[in-house]
Amino acid sequence: MPITLKLATSLDGRIATASGESRWITGEAARQAVHQLRSEHDAVLVGAETALADDPELTVRLPGYSGRQPARVVLDSRQRLSPDCKMVKTARQIPTYVVSTTEPDPGLVAAGVQVIQVRAIGEDRPELKTVVQALEAEGLSSIFVEGGGQVAASFLRCGLVDSIEWFRAPILIGGEGRPGIGALALAGLTAAPHFRRIEVREVGDDLWERYARV
Ligand SMILES: NC(=O)c1ccc[n+]([C@@H]2O[C@H](COP(=O)([O-])OP(=O)(O)OC[C@H]3O[C@@H](n4cnc5c(N)ncnc54)[C@H](OP(=O)(O)O)[C@@H]3O)[C@@H](O)[C@H]2O)c1
Repeated sequence: MPITLKLATSLDGRIATASGESRWITGEAARQAVHQLRSEHDAVLVGAETALADDPELTVRLPGYSGRQPARVVLDSRQRLSPDCKMVKTARQIPTYVVSTTEPDPGLVAAGVQVIQVRAIGEDRPELKTVVQALEAEGLSSIFVEGGGQVAASFLRCGLVDSIEWFRAPILIGGEGRPGIGALALAGLTAAPHFRRIEVREVGDDLWERYARV
């Protein structure tokens, strides 16, 4: 299924300061474009750290929008998501999945969250090809990955990213900031994931670069 990676970074590819502050790096126009992109996908996916740090809704919020809301998916091996977070509180209105490697947490299930248990790899994290198959089995046919850096790197390492929507703000955060893409463990430059730029647009003060996998 088509998988799109979204990045909203500083010029130097950072998605948050060292302390985790990330709102907002890009401007209003870029954020509107992200909402439009969400509306074009079946599911929006984030990692547990983003869900815990930002408590995002991951909904489409555009003026006059009355279309369907994409499902939300959180990769959360140990089901650390709080019952008080926005996604859990609205799980009965908008399909919300937690992908875990452990037995479904009764509190999350009672709140209407659909916990998908998949096999683990490495550091006991969900194996991504299995995750994608499980989401396909739920009838979801496109995924919009919104980070953070560890999750972005995992999808890239597995060769699962078909396109990148990169919003770049004219600020610099520096090396201590959180990277938009975590470690890729490349053996050499020839192993680097390779993308072709298909478009560049100005959105407010930011640049929107669009890439497709070579
Ligand atoms: N600027 C932006 O647009 C933007 C967007 C998103 C996030 N952010 C910022 O980025 C920061 C969080 O990013 P992050 O890189 O630290 O964390 P992250 O990628 O959001 O989440 C990583 C966590 O996801 C869980 N996970 C489960 N399966 C995984 C897999 N296959 N691969 C990788 N992780 C998996 C792991 O926790 P378990 O082991 O517990 O499962 C892991 O620690 C926050 O500060 C947030 O504000 C900014």
